[in-house]
Amino acid sequence: MEYSVKSGSPEKQRSGCVVIGVFRNRRLSTAAKAVDQASDGYITAVLRRGDFSGDKGETLLLLEVPNVLCDRVLLVGCGKERDFDEQAFQKVVAAAVQALDRSGATDASSYLTELAVRHHGADWKVRQHIVVAESTLYRFDQLKSKKDEPRRPLKRMVLNLGSRRELPAGERAVREGMAIASGMRLTRDLANLPGNICKPEYLAEQARLLARTYDPLDVEILDEKQMEELGMGALLAVARGSTNPPRLIVMRYSGGSSDEAPQVLVGKGITFDTGGISLKPGEAMDEMKFDMSGAASVFGVIRACCELQLPMNVIGVIAAAENMPDGNASRPGDIVTTMSGQTVEILNTDAEGRLVLCDALTYVERFEPATVIDIATLTGACIIALGHVASGLLANHAPLANDLIHAGRTSFDRVWELPLWDDYQEQLDSNFADMANIGGRPAGTITAACFLSRFAKKYRWAHLDIAGTAWKSGKEKGATGRPVPLLMQYLLDRLEERQRSGK
Ligand code: BES
Ligand code: MN
Ligand code: ZN
Repeated sequence: MEYSVKSGSPEKQRSGCVVIGVFRNRRLSTAAKAVDQASDGYITAVLRRGDFSGDKGETLLLLEVPNVLCDRVLLVGCGKERDFDEQAFQKVVAAAVQALDRSGATDASSYLTELAVRHHGADWKVRQHIVVAESTLYRFDQLKSKKDEPRRPLKRMVLNLGSRRELPAGERAVREGMAIASGMRLTRDLANLPGNICKPEYLAEQARLLARTYDPLDVEILDEKQMEELGMGALLAVARGSTNPPRLIVMRYSGGSSDEAPQVLVGKGITFDTGGISLKPGEAMDEMKFDMSGAASVFGVIRACCELQLPMNVIGVIAAAENMPDGNASRPGDIVTTMSGQTVEILNTDAEGRLVLCDALTYVERFEPATVIDIATLTGACIIALGHVASGLLANHAPLANDLIHAGRTSFDRVWELPLWDDYQEQLDSNFADMANIGGRPAGTITAACFLSRFAKKYRWAHLDIAGTAWKSGKEKGATGRPVPLLMQYLLDRLEERQRSGK
């Protein structure tokens, strides 16, 4: 969909539909008041009759509202005015877009961006409106033989701001919101693809495709032989059981000057995780096609950077492999030598994510990164700890962790920090190698991060465990596109930080 920002009165918009908010207890938003006045109290009459209570997410489509220039007016319930926060804003926008999608309008003018949300300005609301709208309209139907097309799809949306002064920031926010939404779409498409299509080489091909589309992007793909030469014994040990060979995908986005240290993102790209010889139980195993969601989010961020032409250097590295059991697969007890030279006893072949990531983490040392953030659907334990709300965060550098927590709050794609204290490291002790790849049941998310930390000593590093946030199960099964909003906010914050310091 196309978006733009504007400042003007709702009753004067020639539009398929004007979208206005109404709070509980018949409290009208500024835009609703304007429509009400122009229409001689049409809105208050509807409310008085009891047809609309203003509950959060409630919608009512009004036709033929007198004295307004638009075809329709959509009332959207916003709940109690004093409780109107980020979550309410998201819910209200999603409800509005769903209702618009069911209506016959092909364009709309939303005044939801004029509602006050504590701590946030117009730019935030514009960005968030676009991201939520696009997420709501997302469908993954490329593998269905019949697609259900909407009757008359929404094509254009104007987001209204209270004053003209807000327009420049709003316009920038439109570009950012659309880039983030586009990145999330790519992330969701890739993550939703099944393992028989989305194999390591498929991901590699997608990276080449991106590089052909965007000039500042260069892609290099390492195959098994090159990984052997580098000594990536851990990554290769995971891939051994599969007939689909692994790939290390390196995407370099050079939007900044050549002497500027890059932000490096490392994604776990297990295109299917059976558990290997430590085979997983059958229930919901299909969802292990999502085990490359970290990699998919790196793709999303890189595409968003390209679309925004972000003036900074970002490198995405993806460790892509498939974890399968067969005669050639790694066995529990096998000992491998990682690229760092450290040896690992593979006590459980299902703890494969850390094995592919550790070699990728050593590999990225060569970029002399400003920071390294790895993104991985790493542990079921993270779902037990944080559910499906926050992603897990562990870091070896407190300011970096704080930057990510802050970006999570702003983007509402939130993270929660867990401790990376030395006390946990001994759970990885092995009698036969430098370390084991599992640390037992207690604090599974932390010991997984402890394992990674041993390969991230040379730079500022943070780890995001997205096992609970990358996809939804059940009726709404599918990838969420997280944590693309978080990571984009983190990058945008770095740019702003640099501008503020005048460099
Ligand atoms: N990809 C899984 C983690 C996972 C499981 C994410 C379920 C989302 C839902 C990972 O490779 C894994 O299997 N981890 C094991 C580690 C254990 C063997 C130490 C786990 O969490 O059970
Ligand atoms: Mn596993
Ligand atoms: Zn896995």
